[in-house]
Amino acid sequence: MAHAQITKKYKICVVGAGHVGLVAAACFAELNHKVICVDNNHKKIKDLNKLILPFFEPQLERLAKKNLKRKKLFFTSKLEEAVRKSEVIFIAVGTPPRQDGSADLTSIENVAYNVACNLNSYKLIVEKSTVPVHTGKRIKETIMRYRKNSMDFDVASNPEFLREGKAIYDFFYPERIVIGVESKRAERILKGIYIKLKAPFVVTDINTAELIKHASNSFLATKISFINAVSRVCDLAGADVKKVSMAMGMDRRIGRDFLDAGIGFGGFCFPKDIEAFIYIAKKLGYDFNLLKEVKKINEEQRKHFVEKIKEYMWVLKDKKIAILGLSFKPNTDDMRFAPSIDIIKALLEEGAKLFLYDPQAYKEAKEIFYRDKKIRFAKNPYGAVKGCDCVCFLTEWDEFKKLDFKKIKRLMRLPFIADGRNMFDRKILTDLGFTYIGVGY
Ligand code: UGA
Repeated sequence: MAHAQITKKYKICVVGAGHVGLVAAACFAELNHKVICVDNNHKKIKDLNKLILPFFEPQLERLAKKNLKRKKLFFTSKLEEAVRKSEVIFIAVGTPPRQDGSADLTSIENVAYNVACNLNSYKLIVEKSTVPVHTGKRIKETIMRYRKNSMDFDVASNPEFLREGKAIYDFFYPERIVIGVESKRAERILKGIYIKLKAPFVVTDINTAELIKHASNSFLATKISFINAVSRVCDLAGADVKKVSMAMGMDRRIGRDFLDAGIGFGGFCFPKDIEAFIYIAKKLGYDFNLLKEVKKINEEQRKHFVEKIKEYMWVLKDKKIAILGLSFKPNTDDMRFAPSIDIIKALLEEGAKLFLYDPQAYKEAKEIFYRDKKIRFAKNPYGAVKGCDCVCFLTEWDEFKKLDFKKIKRLMRLPFIADGRNMFDRKILTDLGFTYIGVGY
């Protein structure tokens, strides 16, 4: 009996086919649950059924294909039907930032309303998107207000900690699974869904689980801004931030991860989550000044990088600059809040001519910069650097680590490298005849 319970397969509905939703849906299906993934974007659903994915994520296409074929995974735009057929509903819709920094929860409310109208059996509604504390309470209130019967339901929080580019790995090998629940039934179901993963469960109330996610992302961003502030002091003092990070990281209380200085963090998570956490803390009565400083340091890193380039090149007007790496980090085509955008804009303001290359984010970058006549896109890194006075590395793609720098030197007009991610060895490049600048290095 106990065994039958443990191996139960759930009928799951994942609402939202964005990065979190699509990965979760494919991975739940891989764990043998029957998953319906819903999105109100008809074109996206049509494409997904033809296995055209809306973004690049290693391994995702393989998992989606396999589970579509074995009928464990379905894509649809029909939310009502999907809700009615499911026992567990994961909400993975977008919570975009509003002007004042708060998260826009319209899509979350809409799902809650739809669940209320289609409550044909017990359902567990789980927040997967990053949401401000007290959202669970609001979801529950909404369902209570609009439901048409007295059918039982539970709300839970199960924040996702996956990183873009490593999302599938992070799903199957999490360091912890956080479950915020109000009932034993909800706890049992959520534990049952993840039973095959070898990770510790952290069971809390819903408010605490919601807060764990914002606190985790904010802390990671704080670590990055801390080392970036140290990198500024290193620049002034003539010290090496790479060695500082290494030595600090050897202390287990500090840890080496997220201590890479550079042009700062981007992406759709850290910048928006910090804003949202500052906002919600303020609303509750606490002024989170530390996080305001984290944000400020992050913005200054990009400006400082451009200043360093100017300091060496003097006049940027009509200088040719190659930009290698556009996505906010490697292994993704995501350009949202990418540091490269601010740096490109600042260089354009100075009148430079830019030659852009990225292994994946070519299409996304073109959508942002297609109007700019001073920008050209290159098909490979060598095409980008040809005739240039400077090459900026803004994302640490593996492909760049294997480049032939002797060839690059021959192709450039001036052999000058600005390394925004401290990804190269200064000595090797200066020995080859390059002028090299890093960030605090
Ligand atoms: C982040 C968190 O790491 C995930 O745990 C979380 O689930 C996710 O947000 C989310 O909330 O959905 P992600 O945005 O995919 O994941 O990217 P990260 O790998 O965390 O990198 C964020 C940014 O920080 C990148 O721009 C990266 O270049 C930068 N970074 C990272 C640094 O500048 N230095 C470092 O040492 C590490």
